[in-house]
Amino acid sequence: MADSTQSPAPRATTNRSTTPSSDAFRSFIGANWAERDSALPAPREQSGFAAARRDRLSALYPGITLIVPAGAPKVRSNDTDYPYRAHSAFAHLTGWGSDTVPGSVLVLAADDAGHTATIYFREGAGRDSDEFYANSDIGEFWTGARPSADHVAADLGLVTAGIADLDAVLAGLGTEAAMVREADDELTRTIDMTRIRATHVDENGNFAIVANGNPFEDRDIELARDLSELRLVKDSYEVHQMRLAVAATSDGFDDVIADRAAIIAHPRGERLVEGTFNRRARADGNTVGYDTIAASGAHACILHWTRNDGPVVPGDLILLDAGIELDSLYTADVTRTLPIGGTFSPVQRRVYEAVLEAADAAFAIVRPGIRFREIHATAMAVIARHTAAWGLLPVSAEESIKPENQFHRRYMVHGTSHHLGIDVHDCAQARRDLYIDGVLEEGMVFTIEPGLYLQPDDLTVPEEYRGIGVRIEDNILVTASGAENLSVGIPRTVADVEAWLARG
Ligand code: GLY
Ligand code: MN
Ligand code: MN
Repeated sequence: MADSTQSPAPRATTNRSTTPSSDAFRSFIGANWAERDSALPAPREQSGFAAARRDRLSALYPGITLIVPAGAPKVRSNDTDYPYRAHSAFAHLTGWGSDTVPGSVLVLAADDAGHTATIYFREGAGRDSDEFYANSDIGEFWTGARPSADHVAADLGLVTAGIADLDAVLAGLGTEAAMVREADDELTRTIDMTRIRATHVDENGNFAIVANGNPFEDRDIELARDLSELRLVKDSYEVHQMRLAVAATSDGFDDVIADRAAIIAHPRGERLVEGTFNRRARADGNTVGYDTIAASGAHACILHWTRNDGPVVPGDLILLDAGIELDSLYTADVTRTLPIGGTFSPVQRRVYEAVLEAADAAFAIVRPGIRFREIHATAMAVIARHTAAWGLLPVSAEESIKPENQFHRRYMVHGTSHHLGIDVHDCAQARRDLYIDGVLEEGMVFTIEPGLYLQPDDLTVPEEYRGIGVRIEDNILVTASGAENLSVGIPRTVADVEAWLARG
């Protein structure tokens, strides 16, 4: 790839540009292109849901203009970027997912009727510009054609405007504004300056000293909190997306099982596990919601093992924690721990069944009205009971579960559950009162994922247990009267896992 950008962007590429610049070339490449199809799409399925979410947000912020950027692409190295992903709050409020035009900004402008929502974005450039062939960052020869404002307006059911029009909005912003700060650093700086200028400029036009840091940051933090809390209960579109994400993830797990012989034969079998799962994601038009954890043998005791460079050896267990993210950006988050040779050894089975019992006990209590924290407490009572019975704890299980002790947590240092949705760790800025101390409601989706990680060098653990790591992670929907395990179709009992491997 040779870059031909003439922009002063700090990407070191102009030293190798070979783009012709003669007028003759410009007029030749700018002419003789067929008309584009300008038919407008019907509104996408999620547009009505996104409008309802915006209405709920609007009601919380009368008189305050809200700015939710999709975010700019993030540099991976010099002039190559990470795959683009819109900020989750932007996707939630617009319904625009993997096809979001990078750098777009949703503005909910406060007015007498509440708010008017507009997406500002960079429309496709005409053939009369040189952008389409000469700009490797955004030109359509380089990154593909962008949609028109009319197309996006019809698709998302939203008012749209060119990104250049955002300048006028920002200029008139004043102090009654809040923004999502972490999506687009440059825009955050601009909006901070605009708001500070509105209140902190003296009669000579100089900035007064702003005491106590940025006076607008607190309101932005409140907005982040409210946007997170808006996602605690999923609407029917989101629940359907979660079902689809889990189904796609199930197919990825099946592929890994089917590839078992090649995985065992390869010196870096963990990479093959990751590659096979991720290939399924890509082949189906999806991606992964987080880096796949393919942790074989004692690597399973490393909670976020993503280096995935070890062998996969019969006799060991492999912990596969993987989830597929759809175009809508909703992701599954599923873990299965599998005996590579096809059957669990007695000690592996003992550990596995303890974790499964913890998962099942936690699932059994889920229904609207209980507190989120009770799920963890229920799982931990089982983990404490088994680790005590195996002689790992210095006290009884009853003593260990007291808050001042918690010795069993040496073998499972993570929590049992997190909300799940557009982010794998969804609703992350929600208040503690609504999260760990919150009461479950119908429509919530979260994981139940107890584990036991018996480190290979842990002297409290009998030798036969050392190096065994097990996690079983399912995706749970709270229903009107209880709960549904969305990932129950991915085998999880000892018998079902062994039968799955035998089939594969
Ligand atoms: N995959 C990360 C987690 O389970 O939370
Ligand atoms: Mn998880
Ligand atoms: Mn996980």
